[in-house]
Amino acid sequence: MRRTQVAIVGAGPSGLLLSQLLASQGVDSVVLERESPEHVQGRIRAGLLEWTTVELLQEAGIGARMMREGLVHDGFDVAFADGGHRIDLKGLSGRSMLVYGQNELQKDLIEARSAEPDTVLWQVHDVALHDIGTCAPRLTYAHADRRHELHCDFVAGCDGFHGVSRAAIPVEKLTQYERTYPFGWLGLLADVPPLHEELVYVHHERGFALCSMRSHGRSRYYVQCPLEDKIEHWPDSRFWDELHARLPERYARQLVSGPSFEKSIVPLRSFVTEPMHFGRLYLVGDAAHIVPPTGAKGLNLAAADVRVLAQGIVEFYRAGSPTLLEEYSARALGRVWKATRFSWWFTTLLHRFSADPFAERLQLAELEYLAGSAAAARSLAENYVGLSFD
Ligand code: FAD
Ligand code: PHB
Repeated sequence: MRRTQVAIVGAGPSGLLLSQLLASQGVDSVVLERESPEHVQGRIRAGLLEWTTVELLQEAGIGARMMREGLVHDGFDVAFADGGHRIDLKGLSGRSMLVYGQNELQKDLIEARSAEPDTVLWQVHDVALHDIGTCAPRLTYAHADRRHELHCDFVAGCDGFHGVSRAAIPVEKLTQYERTYPFGWLGLLADVPPLHEELVYVHHERGFALCSMRSHGRSRYYVQCPLEDKIEHWPDSRFWDELHARLPERYARQLVSGPSFEKSIVPLRSFVTEPMHFGRLYLVGDAAHIVPPTGAKGLNLAAADVRVLAQGIVEFYRAGSPTLLEEYSARALGRVWKATRFSWWFTTLLHRFSADPFAERLQLAELEYLAGSAAAARSLAENYVGLSFD
């Protein structure tokens, strides 16, 4: 039997960042992760950090490599009707974004957490949560072929959308909201120079495309694809042809193709669980909510949850006050719903839904409004860079 103050399920960005922040404030935690460190840091996911996320990572003491290697972006392009319109994030909102891959962030977090041996347990199986409705929750799990028990004051469910934490809450205590979208994103990573110095989001009659990057020599591209599509149907040559066909002429000319070293399809989903806690269990990040990647909000929302929960836990141990913890769900959900709305709106604006000429004309009208109205562009910029904390 082992004891810790905070038991954390999942060593994705949420779990490791929470553990890191708590350690910096003298609070002890143990992280249980199903996969190996190599698997976790090899997953290619998000690529764009809001500045409040950047600041939180710096506060947690893991910002040095990120600040050296990350690319500061002051704007992005929205391309439609064979033209492009720049959204000047810095000018419109006063803030920039940082291009820094989630897998790089995972590496930094793993390295930082490894400084405390036995804090993160990898390849743990059969994690089960018990007594979460009491003041003495515990977890059981299998590790290195033996069964173990972990006693704690609090459990943080940082185990993503398919984890066990949310499922441990009695179903009648939760309300879940969900919207699935009738398409996915096919993503490709290749060591070729990016199309443009900033990201380009593309609305096209063949479907949405996004030209992103990880560095000056590594590009991350996405094309909208049917949900039921299979990766085997997309040899590199077909991907490059399709991306090329969706780009306005002036960008298409600049596209440099090359062999991919990662290709995957993700379904798009909006999902919110309310409330984000039950008893002594707190849900964090993708365990509580999912947004379609269009607004680049998933990872940033996870970091925002961690910030609020860490404050609550630290306040509990420092001042003996549960007030901030009691407010966790409501404070986190305020931001979550605004990001859910924004991600849904940006997805709806840019993707091709079933052939509906009326809806398509509305999309174009809204894109033209965005290009012609400083107020519309400012609203997009404000949401994209991330709303401020209250
Ligand atoms: P996760 O990263 O999912 O981490 C959860 C961890 O819990 C995992 O390591 C998992 O192995 C572990 N776990 C699960 N179940 C158990 C269990 N039973 N026991 C122990 N451990 C367990 N966001 C963007 O902003 N832009 C993007 O382009 C983007 N692309 C994405 C692509 C994919 C394929 C996915 C899945 C997500 C993407 N996201 C993107 C979202 C973003 O990556 C997530 O919001 C972010 O990873 C959330 O972090 P998290 O730590 O909450 O969850
Ligand atoms: C990415 O680089 O993976 C990325 C960037 C912006 C998004 C989504 C994904 O909106």
